[in-house]
Amino acid sequence: MRKPFVAGNWKMNTDSLTSISLARTVAEGVADIAGEKIDVALLPPFVYMCYVIGALSTSHIAVGGQDVYFEPKGAFTGEISAAMLKDAGCTYVLCGHSERRHIIKETDELINKKVSAAILGGLLPILCVGELLEERKANKTDEVIKRQIERGLAGLSEEKVLAVTIAYEPVWAIGTGLNATPAQAQEVHGMIRGLVAGLYNGGVADEMRILYGGSAKADNAASLMGQSDVDGLLVGGASLKAEEFISIIKASV
Ligand code: 13P
Repeated sequence: MRKPFVAGNWKMNTDSLTSISLARTVAEGVADIAGEKIDVALLPPFVYMCYVIGALSTSHIAVGGQDVYFEPKGAFTGEISAAMLKDAGCTYVLCGHSERRHIIKETDELINKKVSAAILGGLLPILCVGELLEERKANKTDEVIKRQIERGLAGLSEEKVLAVTIAYEPVWAIGTGLNATPAQAQEVHGMIRGLVAGLYNGGVADEMRILYGGSAKADNAASLMGQSDVDGLLVGGASLKAEEFISIIKASV
């Protein structure tokens, strides 16, 4: 019922030439399944976005931003609006990635404004949530995720929230090579779906895609995707290697 969705978050990596060749190779590798059996998106750095969109123009792979500012336009030096991303050809945008929460110090309130602005601008936000290792060790995972989701989705109507994808990315699993086990991922994904059902209703919860992120690789993709509430993967490091990323997408169908 929920179409699988795999997105590659390139973070602050690639250059103009590698962004184009990576996009082209991935597009060729998954041409027979992208869009039809699985939604695929690439999330390049802003400066390479238009190259990547050009390279993907004949494919069914979508493009998204790694961040967005909540104001529509004006004197906000260095920021990018939802309308700009939409105009460039983006479909998705990440909001509240853990690196922005923890390194750039973004708050739940700021992230909530970004999610709302993204929807208003016609984008599909991917709201990222996840606990730190010390929070997991202190049995605070549910409490942290609940707070991030309640605050991240605050004020969104039922109609608007249907535009949102949630990405559960345990911070201790990001870039560490240490992925959550399928059972650990399922436990949190199930909790998130229950939370969304409580905040909205069962129909919204059934429709909402919940992605897992954190050291997703070709050799763990199928077992993670085999969990009933894992609807896709948000891939960092492994999305920079074309063959590895293609394998992840194929394993996720
Ligand atoms: P890695 O796949 O490199 O662990 O990164 C996950 C991530 O942060 C995707 O947004």
